Amino acid sequence: MQSLLPVMTRQRKSSRQSSTDLPAASSPDPTAAAFWTKPKLYVAVGAAAAVLTATAVTLLVVFLQHRDEEVDDGSVRFYSYEVLQRIPHVHSVPPSGDAVSGVRPFTQGLFFLNESVVVESGGWYGESIIRKWSFPSGDTLAHHDLSPDLFGEGTVRFNDSILQLTWREGLLLAYDVDSLTPTQQYALPFVGWGLATDGERLWATTGDSFLRTITLQEQRGDVPAQVHVTNRTKIVCLGRTVSRVNELEYWEGRIWGNAFGETYVLEIDPHTGQCTSMVSLKGLYDPATSAYVTTHDLGNDVLNGIAHHTSLGPQRMLVTGKRWPFLWVIKLKPVRPSEPISRWSDIRTKLKGFL
Ligand SMILES: *[C@@H]1O[C@H](CO)[C@@H](O)[C@H](O)[C@H]1NC(C)=O
Ligand SMILES: *[C@@H]1O[C@H](CO)[C@@H](O)[C@H](O)[C@H]1NC(C)=O
Ligand SMILES: *[C@@H]1O[C@H](CO)[C@@H](O)[C@H](O)[C@H]1NC(C)=O
Repeated sequence: MQSLLPVMTRQRKSSRQSSTDLPAASSPDPTAAAFWTKPKLYVAVGAAAAVLTATAVTLLVVFLQHRDEEVDDGSVRFYSYEVLQRIPHVHSVPPSGDAVSGVRPFTQGLFFLNESVVVESGGWYGESIIRKWSFPSGDTLAHHDLSPDLFGEGTVRFNDSILQLTWREGLLLAYDVDSLTPTQQYALPFVGWGLATDGERLWATTGDSFLRTITLQEQRGDVPAQVHVTNRTKIVCLGRTVSRVNELEYWEGRIWGNAFGETYVLEIDPHTGQCTSMVSLKGLYDPATSAYVTTHDLGNDVLNGIAHHTSLGPQRMLVTGKRWPFLWVIKLKPVRPSEPISRWSDIRTKLKGFL
């Protein structure tokens, strides 16, 4: 969370360079006159043939793995965006910890409670909040400050509660939907990043490349309330494993998530982990050139926040970033690559400026 490391890792590293590490056929010792007698020659030729065969097999394996890794079915759609609305990103009741930067939440979770109320989780120690605000005015309606030793992360409405992950504190917090009064805590067996739900299932990301399916277990006797991980699915886009998928939003069978430190959003099929579309939000906001910037921690001042409500209309979403001065309602605009894109590396050549 704190540092910017490359988000993409190759699905399978084709680092098998063993073909070049294989021992070469040993050269003859000129002092050994008997070497070139026939049995030794046969041994030498046989050894060379074995080495060449092993090399060829290794190269073939590397080639096939490389091919397998890069080629996708080409079914990923690409979008850019059009801004429809801009909303001030201000928490009008900043926490006592750091009132200056606390004005703009360090957004870690965002969703529509209904068409006129948005719930937002803000992170950072001493500044973490859960709040409700009026859409589209941006005015805070209710809020709860987290204990200063807790760092808020992804949030959803689930089973008539609002749930909020914490980052490294091993807790999932539950709140009353109306008052945001804390009601319950669940032990959390992972580092919390993003959280999404379809109303029945819950999914979380933790900074690695997996989407985890989780369930809640209420307290039973001496066994405290806890979160269980019931499955995990690797997130793959155009043949590449994608890690650090952060803020999440579920709608219409898909999970949308932005990758930490990047300017794109992925649409992910939660059953397969495959991405089905990519949205480039490049140019929406750049803290490095902004007059509105309130932080020196630009590496953390990144895109993070996706929310959708059917009342916005199809292919529209509310997006923001950590400490970004605005939230934007955007409409997705299809982008047609010059040629079909079947592997990640094609994006840079066939969709210039997308990443
Ligand atoms: C949205 O939820 C709030 C409660 O948080 C409620 O006051 C408001 O009436 C709801 N609005 C709609 C359109 O349902
Ligand atoms: C929903 O909450 C109730 C308690 O309020 C609990 O008994 C039930 O197990 C919860 N359901 C799920 C799916 O977590
Ligand atoms: C668990 O995830 C794998 C993919 O990683 C999937 O094939 C499997 O169907 C999932 N299991 C359940 C019970 O959802």
